[in-house]
Amino acid sequence: MDEKIVIYGGTPLNGTVRISGSKNASLPIMCASLLSSCTVTLTNIPEIDDVYSLLKLLHGCGANTNSYNNTLSISCPKIKKYSHDKIILNRIEGYKKIRHSILLVGALLSKYKEVYFDMPGGCKIGDRPIDLHITGFKSLGAQCKIINDNTIMMSSPKGLIGDEIFLRFPSVGATENLLIASVLAEGSTIIKNAAIEPEIINLIDFLNAMGAKIKIAGGNKIIVKGVDILNGGVTHNVIPDRIEAGTFITMGAITRGDITIEHVEPKHLEFPINAFKDAGVGLDTTKNSIHLDSIDELRPVDICTHPYPGFPTDLQPLFATLMTQADGSSLIEERVFDSRFRYLNELKKMGAQFDIISNREIIVKGHSKLTGTDVFMGDIRGGAAILTSALVAEGKSEIYDSFYLYRGYEKIETKLRNLGARLKVYKSNG
Ligand code: UD1
Repeated sequence: MDEKIVIYGGTPLNGTVRISGSKNASLPIMCASLLSSCTVTLTNIPEIDDVYSLLKLLHGCGANTNSYNNTLSISCPKIKKYSHDKIILNRIEGYKKIRHSILLVGALLSKYKEVYFDMPGGCKIGDRPIDLHITGFKSLGAQCKIINDNTIMMSSPKGLIGDEIFLRFPSVGATENLLIASVLAEGSTIIKNAAIEPEIINLIDFLNAMGAKIKIAGGNKIIVKGVDILNGGVTHNVIPDRIEAGTFITMGAITRGDITIEHVEPKHLEFPINAFKDAGVGLDTTKNSIHLDSIDELRPVDICTHPYPGFPTDLQPLFATLMTQADGSSLIEERVFDSRFRYLNELKKMGAQFDIISNREIIVKGHSKLTGTDVFMGDIRGGAAILTSALVAEGKSEIYDSFYLYRGYEKIETKLRNLGARLKVYKSNG
């Protein structure tokens, strides 16, 4: 059976929604847990498909895991090797399913000195090379060998040695991988022009709780003083998912709803919250909640995505969708990924109007009358944008390939139903 969500649009969302743990914080932290041989406990882990995919990978590496009610314990006293006693990550089922599998390279290279791998999977939102990861590992003294078209080997027979690394772009993934690789390296590592997303701070807090010595200096510089061993016995809480929170703000605003978003850290959303407010969305924040009021008229707002603390690229498709209902045109610039407008084809089928200036810039025209139709998801956040359009579209939308949504949003259908959305979910049995 086709996986699809059927939405009957036009109902304002009302009520309270609780935000789950962050996907993009949970996955790096789960990878980093392999650095310790003892048990670590992680709380607020979302029950989403990307977490399940990574759990399979961790099991493939030899880890034991136990999960219950969003709490996950991981221990990996001994790594599992494959043919000829090698750690071959890309042989493990699920390696190609998620982007985060690449972060296992940092952990395994650091702890076991040699790892075989391939390009990871993940959403198709542009060119997603791993050159910054590889160059960074090389700066730490690792050797890189291309074995064949599908396999790269990184090794550090004498162990990694700290160095100064400058990232030409503050890549989230590269910063995480190099942090994970450098905590057990000899001497100090300085990562300059590092990404400083809240998810990275959450990873640093986890590593420091295990005994790492990491601090953030000014100017996006992260300093890691290598230690000999990381301890277990740590319980670490994952931060709330700021992208899920931004998704519900958009859904509430576009349906002219009245919702309270709980268990969120508004300080992680400062830039987008201001953009929503500029658009006329009534938002009141406390330390851990956001209340959204109905609005009469949405104003057009131009946005440009940037690394944190700028406007998050993951919310670009959602904000652009909101702007289809604004009173005028908005310029949406995508400066992080080079192909993040694919969802527009589907929005167009529903009646959204826009001009594509380049693969980085579009102009979204307001006052678009959206009508339900058959549409297809192509990635997680673009998929959430399509779902959001369907919530406001007149009539019925059938949204296919909805499995993308379950990769990143915990219990999304239940949360939407509780807010009054009318939907039916069809899942495949596989
Ligand atoms: C992560 C998030 C993703 C989010 C993004 C930016 C994961 C799995 N995904 O992706 O949801 O949208 O951060 O907040 O964590 N780049 C290079 N070379 C590299 C690495 C990256 O050129 O070695 C470029 C990419 O092509 C892209 C930009 O840097 O244009 C940003 O990528 P990066 O920050 O690494 O994003 P991800 O870690 O892939």
